[in-house]
Amino acid sequence: MTKEQLIEEIQQLKKEKDAVILAHYYLEDDVQAIADYIGDSYYLSEIATKVPQRVIVFCGVSFMGESAKILNPQKTVLLPDPTADCPMAHMVTAEKIQQIRSQYDDLAVVCYINSTAEIKQYADVCVTSANAMTIVRNLPQKNIFFIPDENLGRFVAQQVPEKHFIFNDGYCPVHVQMTGQLVKKAKEEHPTALVLAHPECTPDVLAQADYIGSTSGIIRYVGDSDKQEFIIATELGVLYQIRQNCPDKQCYSVLPEQICPDMRKITLEKVASVLRNFDHTVELDQTMAQKAMTPLQKMLELARKD
Ligand code: 13P
Ligand code: SF4
Repeated sequence: MTKEQLIEEIQQLKKEKDAVILAHYYLEDDVQAIADYIGDSYYLSEIATKVPQRVIVFCGVSFMGESAKILNPQKTVLLPDPTADCPMAHMVTAEKIQQIRSQYDDLAVVCYINSTAEIKQYADVCVTSANAMTIVRNLPQKNIFFIPDENLGRFVAQQVPEKHFIFNDGYCPVHVQMTGQLVKKAKEEHPTALVLAHPECTPDVLAQADYIGSTSGIIRYVGDSDKQEFIIATELGVLYQIRQNCPDKQCYSVLPEQICPDMRKITLEKVASVLRNFDHTVELDQTMAQKAMTPLQKMLELARKD
């Protein structure tokens, strides 16, 4: 089957099955091109609660599909590849959360959305890189246990010095490969380029950044800037949108390959296949899903107040 035929089939199946396709900015270009909505994790979790279709095809890693299902239990959520999983999502345990909870009376467990549904059920509120600062700043608790990502946690802590943070040692295997040394080298090669970094990068990278933000923040920054050249310190899937919005601007990577292998498991073939067969539906234990819904809904509510 040619690519055009595959796209045609996907469009047909979408209509027949009353489905909508959501895709994260890290997906390969072909998948972003056929998506109905493309965005960062915050936007996708919010739009999932607004789309009228009965079926959501979530082109992303499994915690994203799980979050869409938790927020929309009545809908069918399909994952084109259920093995696409964010390693960071598993880097904290329920035992660790319990242990920290037992040490502080006045504590909020703030859970990055890159986490499993199982972990979310023990959190007070979820956050994404787009809303973490605002949400943490507005929490009544003084002590913040930030899970699972240490780098994002430390970045938020810097912006919200009035809170006391406890960190967890989770990290993104993709973002930590971009070292401060490599960013320095990229700056020497492209002296007029601005460095735009995702807060999952390590502190030595963030210290050299001209802008730190979520994937959508980085894409927006390039569009709004009067500068022409940028060093991109995040997964290179964002370049698809950047090229659509500003084809004349020049972007450079820090590493030759800044690719999230799990996000890139999603292909047009797998999107078509899951729509044909309805085989990879997100199924969650109901009690767990109900508990995990509270911090996710709290995130949507608090982020809207921004
Ligand atoms: P965003 O929320 O900025 O889209 O990032 C998600 C992610 O997985 C970053 O690695
Ligand atoms: Fe997880 Fe990193 Fe991939 Fe984002 S880029 S989904 S944090 S592994």
